[in-house]
Amino acid sequence: MMHKAVNLIVVPGFLIALAAIVTFVIQLPTEAAAAKIESSNPLTGDKDAIKAGKTLYRANCALCHGLRANGKGRGLPNSADLRKFKKGYSKYVYTVLNGGKTMPRFGGMKPLSGDEINQVGAYLETVAIRGAVWLDPKK
Ligand code: HEC
Repeated sequence: MMHKAVNLIVVPGFLIALAAIVTFVIQLPTEAAAAKIESSNPLTGDKDAIKAGKTLYRANCALCHGLRANGKGRGLPNSADLRKFKKGYSKYVYTVLNGGKTMPRFGGMKPLSGDEINQVGAYLETVAIRGAVWLDPKK
């Protein structure tokens, strides 16, 4: 009889603890990604820069890379999914300044200043998903 009473308390308690651990582990990566990504961008995490960057992104990049930066815009085909960008900050700046294989410089819009490129970067870092790398490799 003692056994049954103990099980009635221990088993639900164990299940609740297990559910809590599972929930925690599932949330961990997404929250870490949303919270703050490490980057070599001088404007990383700056609220005003992120806001300005979002506006600039929509005006200059969304046509091809999509409003959600998932690469599904209506412009050039095979536009990169920028949420998964993983070449480090300097490569990002280089691509915007010089263009890519088919991407025109600055996305073909008016030139952006260095500050504006950093602002767009600060915005893109907030939509980065697991696997994204904005930190430059150590020299
Ligand atoms: C006219 C369409 C177009 C516009 C506008 C555009 N891009 Fe691109 N972008 C592309 C295409 C296509 C690629 C992938 C092929 C290549 O390298 O050209 C690309 C690639 C990139 C890459 C490299 C991704 C990687 O993983 O190597 C970055 C970074 C990037 N774009 C950022 C931007 C930013 C920031 C803007 C806005 C300032 C922008 N792009 C505007 C078409 C565009």
